[in-house]
Amino acid sequence: MMATTTMLNSPYNIGAVKFDVKVKPLLHFSHKLPPMRLNRRQMLTIKASDEGSNNGSGPGASRKMGLSDEECEAAVVAGNVPEAPPLPPKPSAPAGTPVVSSLPINRRPRRNRRSPAVRAAFQETNLTPANLVYPLFIHEGEEDAPIGAMPGCYRLGWRHGLIEEASKARDVGVNSIVLFPKVPDSLKSPTGDEAYNENGLVPRTIRLLKDKYPDLVIYTDVALDPYSSDGHDGIVREDGVIMNDETVHQLCKQAVAQARAGADVVSPSDMMDGRVGAIRTALDAEGFQHVSIMSYTAKYASSFYGPFREALDSNPRFGDKKTYQMNPANYREALVEMQADESEGADILLVKPGLPYLDIIRLLRDKSPLPIAAYQVSGEYSMIKAGGVLKMIDEERVMMESLMCLRRAGADIILTYFALQAGRCLCGVK
Ligand code: PBG
Repeated sequence: MMATTTMLNSPYNIGAVKFDVKVKPLLHFSHKLPPMRLNRRQMLTIKASDEGSNNGSGPGASRKMGLSDEECEAAVVAGNVPEAPPLPPKPSAPAGTPVVSSLPINRRPRRNRRSPAVRAAFQETNLTPANLVYPLFIHEGEEDAPIGAMPGCYRLGWRHGLIEEASKARDVGVNSIVLFPKVPDSLKSPTGDEAYNENGLVPRTIRLLKDKYPDLVIYTDVALDPYSSDGHDGIVREDGVIMNDETVHQLCKQAVAQARAGADVVSPSDMMDGRVGAIRTALDAEGFQHVSIMSYTAKYASSFYGPFREALDSNPRFGDKKTYQMNPANYREALVEMQADESEGADILLVKPGLPYLDIIRLLRDKSPLPIAAYQVSGEYSMIKAGGVLKMIDEERVMMESLMCLRRAGADIILTYFALQAGRCLCGVK
């Protein structure tokens, strides 16, 4: 696989970064690019004094073109103007075009959109593979199992499929992943204790990944739902109430187990009250001061999560998640969550879902100095995939536009199932 592209010949503007996708390690971190090597001789040749072209006495320009600068200027002053191409002819309009006097306007915004180069110069937002986090589903199996509701996504075998997928992502500059485990039913329980089994699927997988790719940035999900026999993010009391503080106790153990295995960023997605502060304290107590917390600050009780719950077989056995996830009708409430997460020590604030909640992303972006993450969730992904398969929309263009819009709204990073596909687009790799 070899491809070379710059932002100008790639269909997608990737910012000021020039990507040479050729050798794997080149892309992972730009500071690892080989330093420019100039030997002493080359350095001498770029010294200005050696160019000697603009005072007419040096050997440079005059030797090449025949005339000195003074001679050229004198020729023009004497009216002996050198030839240049004539003015281009005025392009003609189709027959029947009305003849009108021009509008008396001094603002014509189209001037700044008139060519690809001009548009690129004034583009306000850019998207690079470094902005993307790739959510990956893992299971105990050896094979990769396709997920029906999410075309192109698989439950990856933790030992092989996952490692290959992470490697492909790294090849196009996507060096961050977030893990979601499919847990065998027999390991699920009302209190979700498998969540902090240090030899469970997630900690084991983290250890394997870190062994293969020490610089891979690993995010984990902190919530009980994959481990809960009730399919809820917390412990369910017999009257159906989700128990807050008892759940937080479990989440702390889960986060510590993930950190111990080598997770870089633990991401509580459960929406229990007070979990960020409790997790911070638990991590610090165990010596994991360096592990970050990405809090799902504004996570809404959304129907866009449907395909994900199929992927993990994690649908709630009863009821819904409306007593802990936020009401999709609420905007100002996100500020309550934001203030709590900030004061409890969150490092990154996440909004979920993404595209239907751009106003919330913008709100947090404007109100908080912390980095903002957006989660383009399973339902958003599947809608774009389905529209593409049915040839109703151009999948690739809609994908790239949706990601750019999340960035424009204020997201620093985007969790998206399109991460690999988008990374390839950005690098001009098919
Ligand atoms: C659960 C969790 C969910 C997602 C991420 N973590 C689902 C839920 O809250 O039921 C959804 C992700 C997606 O839909 O892509 N802790």
